[in-house]
Amino acid sequence: MKILVINGPNINMLGIREPEVYGRQTYAELCEMIQVYAAENGVTVELYQSNHEGDLVDTIQQAYGVFDGIVINPAAYTHTSVAILDALKACGIPAVEVHISDVEKREAFRQISYVREYCEKTICGHGFAGYTEAIDYLMNRHQM
Ligand code: DQA
Repeated sequence: MKILVINGPNINMLGIREPEVYGRQTYAELCEMIQVYAAENGVTVELYQSNHEGDLVDTIQQAYGVFDGIVINPAAYTHTSVAILDALKACGIPAVEVHISDVEKREAFRQISYVREYCEKTICGHGFAGYTEAIDYLMNRHQM
């Protein structure tokens, strides 16, 4: 099974950005945790992070026919991007939306998620563990 993990803008700043919200672990540590978890579970994982909406759209399009599942934290684009939603819909790959923080308990503008309409599941506020929970969901789904 092949899973693509996509992170949007400012996720590369983890460890530096708002540690009271996102914690002190870095993006490199997040990648390492995901790689180790995937290897332990026999899953091939690829990680991608970009600060640019079009690059995220390109990456989703390129996943067509290549990946069996997508874990996506669109970060700020969650709340604004119809283009990312449309790219997910176009490719039809099962996807899980992840947010490190509990967006439900934050500002009103963070309550809106465009990708939620497409994603089979949303995991918010579980910190880095949300990514491995999303991988678990996709693995279980794949086995069914
Ligand atoms: C985030 C929540 C978003 O509202 C925010 O813009 C982010 C990160 C999260 O993982 O909690 O950049 O997606």
